[in-house]
Amino acid sequence: MSVIEMRGIKREYRMEARKSRHPKDGASSKDDEAVVVRALRGVDFSAETSDFIFVMGPSGSGKSTLMNILGCLDKPTAGTYTLDGIETSKSDSDTFAYIRNRKIGFVFQSFNLLARTTALENVELPLFYRRREKDRKRQSTSARKERAMTALRDVGLETRMDHFPSQLSGGQQQRVAIARAMVNDPAFILADEPTGNLDTEMSLEIMGLFQELNNQGKTIIMVTHEPELAVYAKRIITLRDGELVSDTQVTKRRSAPDDLAKWKHNHALLSEASSPSESA
Ligand SMILES: Nc1ncnc2c1ncn2[C@@H]1O[C@H](COP(=O)(O)OP(=O)(O)OP(=O)(O)O)[C@@H](O)[C@H]1O
Ligand SMILES: [Mg+2]
Repeated sequence: MSVIEMRGIKREYRMEARKSRHPKDGASSKDDEAVVVRALRGVDFSAETSDFIFVMGPSGSGKSTLMNILGCLDKPTAGTYTLDGIETSKSDSDTFAYIRNRKIGFVFQSFNLLARTTALENVELPLFYRRREKDRKRQSTSARKERAMTALRDVGLETRMDHFPSQLSGGQQQRVAIARAMVNDPAFILADEPTGNLDTEMSLEIMGLFQELNNQGKTIIMVTHEPELAVYAKRIITLRDGELVSDTQVTKRRSAPDDLAKWKHNHALLSEASSPSESA
């Protein structure tokens, strides 16, 4: 089933042109015209339940613009976007916010965790933002806590629930962010360069976690600049100058947990070889 259906999506930014600095020079009518940046020029795109899609393309090609629209943080200038059967372009702002809070889990490059708040409290946060009456009646404090604990267990952080972000590694912080994205059981996860701040080992860990969530049926859409990660996705779309120029299936898909195990093994061998032997 299509969880996402985009047709003819355009996004134009109108920039008011700067007026002449010297009014006496006579600002021509051109100076007052708006400059239009065509960030997306008519994108058709759909994603199925259980898709795992990488969005790639050069800087300025429209990736973040597309993610903002997918995430209901922004509306297109033209075109239609249907998410989980809801036509978002026609929704009022309340519905728009509802969709954003309940249907989408966000993961960012910089984790975006609250610093003075424990891992558990960070993950509980989205459960407070339920907007609709039927949701507000919702859950007791203990039920919320239970849900957040389950989400943290699912990302392997059962022993770190009371840690503050500063007491966690980068990879662990990103796992907290993923637990937070998952706690509302969203229709899909949007990740904007989630491994951008992580080293090889942590990147593989995060890719493994995404693969696991994806195996459980979660749809994942992720922007990355790292071509070497492409082998872990199922599908890759490429943007160029605001147009979708390719959409390919990954044929030789790899398992990130397997690659992580190999990486750790090789790393251990290397450090064994470089450390002085005990008998010496
Ligand atoms: N708020 C804005 N106002 C005006 N122009 C914008 C705005 N946001 C983005 N643009 C322009 O739209 C185009 C697409 O930008 P976008 O941020 O989507 O690129 P990107 O593919 O995410 O690039 P990067 O890889 O550098 O993050 C760029 O030319 C950019 O300058
Ligand atoms: Mg961007």
